[in-house]
Order: sequence, then C-alpha cells, then structure tokens
Amino acid sequence: MADKHMRALQYDSFGGGAAALKHVEVPIPKPSKGELLLKLEATSINPVDWKIQKGMLRPLFPRKFPWIPATDVAGEVIDVGPGVNNFKVGDKVVSMLDVFKGGGLSEYAVGSQKLTVLRPPEVSAAEGAGLPVAGLTALQALTYHGGITLDKTGPTTNVLITAASGGVGQYAVQLAKLGNIHVTATCGERNIDLVKSLGADEVIDYKTPQGAALKSPSDKKYDVVVHCATPIPWSTFEPNLGPNGKVIDITPNASAFWTAVVKKVTCSKKKLVPSLLIPKAENLEYLVGLVKEGKLKTVIDSKYPLSEGEEAWAKSIDGHATGKIIVEP
Ligand SMILES: NC(=O)c1ccc[n+]([C@@H]2O[C@H](COP(=O)([O-])OP(=O)(O)OC[C@H]3O[C@@H](n4cnc5c(N)ncnc54)[C@H](OP(=O)(O)O)[C@@H]3O)[C@@H](O)[C@H]2O)c1
Repeated sequence: MADKHMRALQYDSFGGGAAALKHVEVPIPKPSKGELLLKLEATSINPVDWKIQKGMLRPLFPRKFPWIPATDVAGEVIDVGPGVNNFKVGDKVVSMLDVFKGGGLSEYAVGSQKLTVLRPPEVSAAEGAGLPVAGLTALQALTYHGGITLDKTGPTTNVLITAASGGVGQYAVQLAKLGNIHVTATCGERNIDLVKSLGADEVIDYKTPQGAALKSPSDKKYDVVVHCATPIPWSTFEPNLGPNGKVIDITPNASAFWTAVVKKVTCSKKKLVPSLLIPKAENLEYLVGLVKEGKLKTVIDSKYPLSEGEEAWAKSIDGHATGKIIVEP
C-alpha cells in the first residue's frame, strides 16, 4: 500500500477558490497508532473547508501546504495502525478526519479510531458522509447549548432555525422535531416545501420583510434560535425572543461575540451563545443510529465524482446548496 498512489484534489496556497484546486497523484497515506486507512466512498463539503482556503481560519488552518481539504467521509477500512481494537479491515464507517490534517478530497484517507463510527448497511455512504460537521453542529446547538431534549418528554419549546435548507439547518429541523418542539424555519422560497417536509411547523421566506425580521407567522416568541445564516444584528433577534430566549449562533461575527459578553456580564435573561462544533464520536454514533432507524435523513443537494470535485467546491462557495454536497471518488 505504501508504494501506491491515489488521486486527490489539493491546493498550494491561500485563495483562488475552485480554480486553485489541482488534481494530483500522491502516495496513499499510512495509518499511524490509533488510525485507520479508509478507502473513501463519499466525502461531504462544508463551508468551513473553503473558508480555510480563503485564509479565514489563519493561523490555525491549514498548518502546511499542499493541503487536501475536507474532513467528512464515509468509506471502508482497508488497513489499521497499531493499537486499533474497535475496527477491522472490511468495516464500513463514517469518520470525521483530523481537522488539522484534512485529506477528504481523495481516494483514501486516514482517520482516527476516536472519531470513526461503524456504518450499518441501511446508511448509504453519501448519507453518512453528510453527518459529521453539519449533523454534530445541529445536534450540539440544540442539545448542549439550547438545552433541548430530543424526545417527547421535554417541555414544549419554540425554536427558530435559520437557513433551514442548508447542510446544518436541514439536520437541525429534523432533530428538533424529535423533541417536543414547535419549529419555525427560514429558507428561500424555492425550499419552503422541502423544509416543511422535514417537519418544520412554520416556514418563512428569508427574502420577505417578515422573514428578514424573523417574525413567527403565529406570533410565537422563540425560546431557542439556532442561527445558521449569515450574521444578523441582535436588535433583529431580541424582539422575537421569549423572556429567557437564547440565540445559539453558529456563524458568530465580532459583534455577536461582543453581544454574548455583554449579555453575560449584565446577567441578561436573553442570551447569545456562540457555538463551535466539538467533534464527539458518541454524538456521531447517535446520528448514524437515527439515520439507520429512519428518523433522520441527509438531504443531498448534489453528487460529483472526484474528477469534478472543483465543481462541488464552487457550488459550496456559491452558498445556495439545499442540503449536502457530496464528492464520490
Ligand atoms: N460554528 C460551527 O461549529 C459551524 C459548524 C458548521 C457550519 N458552520 C457555519 O454555519 C453556516 C451554515 O453552514 P451550512 O453547511 O448549513 O451552509 P450551506 O449548506 O452552504 O447553506 C446554504 C443554504 O443557506 C440558505 N441561506 C443562505 N442565506 C440565508 C438566509 N439569510 N436566511 C435563510 N437561509 C439562507 C441558502 O438558501 P438559498 O439558496 O435559498 O439562498 C442555502 O440553502 C456556514 O457559515 C458555516 O461555516 C459553523
């Protein structure tokens, strides 16, 4: 395996968008201690992947060039490093690759056993590959930060999910509906029926005045907002929140961080909580289990072969995906 090569897409410097991705042949990586070598069947692209290319996460990512982007993959274990006990050659898995290493836009990648879970036959590679970043972010925003119980035992809660047609939003709507939740969602007009079909109780077009103001059609005040769209000022959220309303902001800008601090130090009952994904295998296992049981699905925007991976990249940068963009080697 060590002498063999694989096809991959990589870039050599910051910037340049899809045109800067180069098709290359590079050595197949070797699994180190605790790692698995995966033959990839599907990779999903997240906005963070091209934000890294733009240099928006400098100096953390990437640590070196050339860089093979993307972390969310599904595939088959074809080799294991020392100390791997929970997986064997032939296992089908979903994995979130090390964010400091990337490697997903390729035919093979190494993933840590700590962030890999088994993928049952009911979960396709594409559905599984959609889950790591987007699914975990939706789950953690609702549960850890929003304090929502994802079964029918919790109190009735009013939740707003913005950009409900996107990779994160589509999972957030479906997960919220596992709980005792009234979901209001925003999306573009063309996706209203889809978002309703995912379970949203009320859907508003973000391009209308009501949508821009985030107003619930039934005059509900939100207990929790999972904010997945581009930054919106606190003054827009505030009048729509219940007395203890919380905005879980997965796209916080400097102003949002400032609002979060001010709300905290003034002991405000209404809060803004910037949310950053914490990769956890037990959460990923939970999501894969929900897909297996038919309680969660991955809405797939489009699939591209690796040979056309730059088109998938451009589609994600364009910002109008409905669900997840998948690349298949
Ligand atoms: N904090 C974290 O840990 C974390 C984790 C994951 C993602 N994120 C961030 O969260 C954001 C969303 O990620 P994603 O993967 O869901 O993105 P995405 O899939 O690219 O989202 C695209 C969707 O958003 C819709 N949209 C765009 N602007 C909107 C608006 N103002 N109101 C309502 N809908 C809108 C688009 O609808 P139209 O096509 O109709 O415009 C499109 O369907 C990104 O900025 C990403 O970087 C953060």
